[in-house]
Amino acid sequence: MSCFLGIDLGTSGLKSVLIDEKGKVLASATVEYPLYQPQNGWAEQDADDWIEAAKTSIHTVLSDAGLSADAVACVGLTGQMHGLVLLDDRDRPIRRAILWCDGRSSAECDEMTVRAGGRDKLIEYCANPAIAGFTASKALWVRNNEPENWQKAKKMLLPKDYLRLRMTGEYASDASDASGMQLYDVAHRRWSDELLKAFEIDREMLPDVYESPEVCGRVTASAAAEFGLQAGTPVVAGAGDNAASAVGMGAVREGEAFVSIGSSGVVYAHSSLPALDPLGRAHTFCSSVPGEWHMMGVTQGAGLSLKWFKDTLCGGLIEKAKAAGKSVYAMLDELAAASPIGSNRLIFLPYLMGERTPHLDPLARGAFVGLSASHTLGDMARAVMEGVAFSLADCLGVLGEAGVKPKSLVAVGGGGTSALWREIVCDAMNTEVELSPTAAEGAAYGAALLAAVGGGAFSSVNDACSALTVRTPACSPNGERAARYSEVYGIYRALYPTMQKSMHSLAKI
Ligand code: XUL
Repeated sequence: MSCFLGIDLGTSGLKSVLIDEKGKVLASATVEYPLYQPQNGWAEQDADDWIEAAKTSIHTVLSDAGLSADAVACVGLTGQMHGLVLLDDRDRPIRRAILWCDGRSSAECDEMTVRAGGRDKLIEYCANPAIAGFTASKALWVRNNEPENWQKAKKMLLPKDYLRLRMTGEYASDASDASGMQLYDVAHRRWSDELLKAFEIDREMLPDVYESPEVCGRVTASAAAEFGLQAGTPVVAGAGDNAASAVGMGAVREGEAFVSIGSSGVVYAHSSLPALDPLGRAHTFCSSVPGEWHMMGVTQGAGLSLKWFKDTLCGGLIEKAKAAGKSVYAMLDELAAASPIGSNRLIFLPYLMGERTPHLDPLARGAFVGLSASHTLGDMARAVMEGVAFSLADCLGVLGEAGVKPKSLVAVGGGGTSALWREIVCDAMNTEVELSPTAAEGAAYGAALLAAVGGGAFSSVNDACSALTVRTPACSPNGERAARYSEVYGIYRALYPTMQKSMHSLAKI
């Protein structure tokens, strides 16, 4: 039997998913790794941790499925977008990777805007304004602050493309992930000569770019031994995690959309043209469908907020969950479900890692507003879920202003598997939410489908999605609940403008 392997190099861990030719999931395994925060607002990971996680999870899925390496007909890669991996002349990482949720590069965003000839010019060249989460500002930060590291840097890769290099020996990326480097001309699908010149970045540092389902390398003999794959196995270009999730959830035609509650939160809509938010609050990137695009609003701390809450404030609950053999997230769901809409007058701003849509503010920070001595862990957990849902509603609103108004959204990401969180999102956005049986596999499933296209099992991405992605209605908004959320959302929306000055003052002390 031939099967296809999808690998998602995520922020909290790396997931491998093995599917058969009919798209059935044969096995799935996730290996977690740490995220380092050396300073408030910074986020880094060790590229070696990703490689070790890939080896373990590939081994696990093959052994769980009872298959040997020669059964894998093609591999697809996806992963967290924007991360900067700098390599020396022997392809060794020079420093820890700087991640998508790292906000240290505000000054470099200003520098980029000036170098490009202004904000409008920058948007003309790469479809987006300068954003601290994107790769180019991180590269300029290293050049400005760690000149000794920049001197050594010969290549600049995205996280999943570093894994590809280790597997195939190729420097390659795909159009969706390259879009988020802020060096790529998204509308024309090529590196932007104008921006490379303006930012003084050598084209030689960058990988070649392919469309997502194209084969752009093969597993080398040494990598075969290292990763437990067969030498010569083809590897497709793959996609950034959101563009790969779109494939996994079947959001690949005009108007099709999904909402993701992963580490980040995303409202994503496919588009046959590179549509823009004139204010630059939503991103316009290439999609996994060759020659097409997508627009997405991104909130920086979605699942990341609940994970922070759990790790920092729920020590007792973690112990109880262990003793009861239950998932701590399921227990948090139960507690949150017992709290009413509005969390007993408590609001959470999910800006723990700064915010993109709609504020584009790396210095924004989170808050619980309205805390009282009567509040419980359940109220606080619900407030976190509601705050993330409001931030996603902000994303949907920005897409709406650009004329993108999805009728329904398919839920994906770890948080999307919680029935309670899905219902909160559905009511807070007043939009129908659908579910896919492969939602838990998310981007990794999309990467496996891209591998199935590259491996010849399907003639195109759309063909694979029509045959394999199933969406069923999960929840429709309830008028009464939606009206109550709308009242709390109004209060939520007024908080950031009121608190912005204090957040920025705090960043200076
Ligand atoms: C998208 C983004 C995040 C990451 C993390 O622009 O930064 O969704 O891809 O998964």
